[in-house]
Amino acid sequence: MIEARHLTKVFDLPPARAGRILDAPADRARAVREAGGVLAVDDVSFSVDKGELFVIMGLSGSGKSTVIRMINRLVAPSAGSVVYDGADVGGMTPRELRELRNRRVGMVFQHFALFPHRTVRENAAYGLKARGVPKRERLRRADRALEQVGLGRRGDAYPDEFSGGMKQRVGLARALTTDPDVLIMDEPFSALDPLTRRSMQEQLLELQRDFRKTIIFVTHDLNEAMRLGDRIMVMRNGRIVQLGTGPEIISQPADAYVEDFVSDVDRTRVLTAGTVMQPPWVTAAVGDDPAAVLGRLRESPGHGVYVTAPDGGIAGVATDALLSEAVAGNRADLESCLGGGYTAVPDDAPLIEFCHRAGGHPVPLAVVDRDKRLVGVVPRARVLDAIASTPKDVNEHA
Ligand SMILES: Nc1ncnc2c1ncn2[C@@H]1O[C@H](COP(=O)(O)OP(=O)(O)OP(=O)(O)O)[C@@H](O)[C@H]1O
Ligand SMILES: [Mg+2]
Repeated sequence: MIEARHLTKVFDLPPARAGRILDAPADRARAVREAGGVLAVDDVSFSVDKGELFVIMGLSGSGKSTVIRMINRLVAPSAGSVVYDGADVGGMTPRELRELRNRRVGMVFQHFALFPHRTVRENAAYGLKARGVPKRERLRRADRALEQVGLGRRGDAYPDEFSGGMKQRVGLARALTTDPDVLIMDEPFSALDPLTRRSMQEQLLELQRDFRKTIIFVTHDLNEAMRLGDRIMVMRNGRIVQLGTGPEIISQPADAYVEDFVSDVDRTRVLTAGTVMQPPWVTAAVGDDPAAVLGRLRESPGHGVYVTAPDGGIAGVATDALLSEAVAGNRADLESCLGGGYTAVPDDAPLIEFCHRAGGHPVPLAVVDRDKRLVGVVPRARVLDAIASTPKDVNEHA
């Protein structure tokens, strides 16, 4: 949907001068600085998929806002390009650019400027006026957008009757009225108190479940990034230090800088069963011979084996005790050995929801996908490794 290629921005130098410095093979950051300029963004490449919630995270001054402003060319790159839905934004005519900014990309900022003497509905409808939408239609769409952000009945109020969180909702509604393909949100919740912020995050995730917009969300808070982002791009000094999913970043921070951020994150809420699981030591299928299964089980550290049905679901657990009995009694069917005595968790369940259930059975926790198929197991040791902060190999199966 959006592809940034080698995006680079130098401020405070004439473009030609900046261009010459960037073309030279020397240390760019230093050369720009010595010439009196600022290398705000340095060779940043990434792509955002349709329907993805893509988070850009970094400390103040790391270049986040400059990157997103280059996406719709509010800032022209010094080098590199942005391709939007197959079209090079740098090659767009002024008219196409206007269309991109007004219609296809909506923006929400930290401090949203609302008009104090206009109603909330009129404020939400504001973006449609510039597009020549007739008044009745404008207000109708504003009401719908206000509904989407949980302010359905408040359209007649004035902004000064609203709290900070409600004002941000109006800002979000304004961006939604134009039904953009892409929403760019620059620290939209940063000025809110923690509880309001949390509820805005929930609201955004809810909206995202319903509408699946492509969203680029900027924040300097890693917990917020982890909660919201399908993927997170961590920036420092204008460069990308890491790009990956929350669990990837938590379990394999790229450097000490990211590790520092990660140490503040509650791992048990970010890591999921799917990210900490490993392949089962042994498996068996309904219809296997108990003697053969027992043989395989003896080679493994476990005392039981998951037996899967033809559809991949868990038929039950065969423990070594039950298997031995069957073999001693010359019973050849595995189904007679099946017991319960296991716990299955969905692959997207966060650790916090199931860590206390690890270790209670002869088999490790089972991880199942949406169709209830067995996709992996989580032994107790793995849970403990994941909670401790040095799970170097948590993702090694991936
Ligand atoms: N218009 C400008 N002119 C000169 N320098 C600029 C301009 N805009 C940004 N910069 C500089 O570029 C660097 C990156 O700024 P940017 O605003 O992109 O960072 P940011 O990650 O969004 O920071 P914050 O979290 O504070 O919003 C900073 O050093 C900043 O001072
Ligand atoms: Mg910024």
